[in-house]
Amino acid sequence: MNGSRERTRELIRAIVAGLQPNPNYEIVICPSFVFLPDAAETLAASCVGLGAQNVCDQDQGAYTGEVAGDMLAELGCRWAIVGHSERRQLYGETNALVASRFAAAQRHRLTPIFCVGETLEEREAGATEAVLDEQLRAVFDHQGAQAFRSAIIAYEPVWAIGTGRTATPEQAQGVHAYIRSRVAEHDAGTAAELRILYGGSVKPENAQTLFEQPDVDGGLIGGASLQAEDFLAICQAGNC
Ligand code: PGA
Repeated sequence: MNGSRERTRELIRAIVAGLQPNPNYEIVICPSFVFLPDAAETLAASCVGLGAQNVCDQDQGAYTGEVAGDMLAELGCRWAIVGHSERRQLYGETNALVASRFAAAQRHRLTPIFCVGETLEEREAGATEAVLDEQLRAVFDHQGAQAFRSAIIAYEPVWAIGTGRTATPEQAQGVHAYIRSRVAEHDAGTAAELRILYGGSVKPENAQTLFEQPDVDGGLIGGASLQAEDFLAICQAGNC
C-alpha cells in the first residue's frame, strides 16, 4: 500500500519503458486493487503481466471489502498473490483461508502466487520446516498436490520482509530445496516444473546471487519495486 495513482502510473510506465523483453523470464506487476485498471491499460501492449495482491475465497455475494477472482480476471489479471505474511500476520488469515483463496484464484484462471515463510522466532526455534509443512499441507489437503501445476510458490521469510535483512543465498536455497522436496513427495513431475520465488529484501546488490541458486526461480520484490531503476536492475539479474 504505497504511492498514489499518479505515482503508480509513472512507476509502471518507467518499468515498461526500461524493460528489455527477454524470453528467459516473466515479469508480473501486482499493484493495489484500485490501480489495476490503470495498470492494465499501461501494460496492455507490453510483455509484463498483471496480478492482484489478494483474491476473495468466495466467487460472489455479500463479502464486503473483498474482491472476487472473476472481477480481477475481467480487469486483465492473470496472477493473484495469496497468503502474503502481512495478510497472515496483520489480518489473521489462516492457512485454511489462504488455501481457499488459492482455490478461488485457480477457479478464475488466476495463477496463485502462494506465499509461505517462517517468523524469526520460528526459525530460531528450529521450526522452519514444520511451519512450511503446515502452510503447504493446507493446500495439499484442500486442493491436492496437482494444484501446484498451475501455481507459483514464494518463500518469504517473515524476518526478511521489509527489514533489509535478506536470507543468505544458502539459506534461501536450503528452504527452496525443502519446499520442492515436499511437493515431490506428492508429485515429482509437478515439483520439477514448479517455480519457487524468493522474497524478502531482494535488492539489485543481492538479486543475482540469490537467483543463481538452483532452486531459486525468481523473486517477489517489495520495496525495491517502488524504484523503477532498482526493479529493472533486479529483472536484469534474473537473466542468469
Ligand atoms: P521486500 O518485500 O522486498 O520489501 O522485503 C517483499 C514482500 O513484501 O513480499
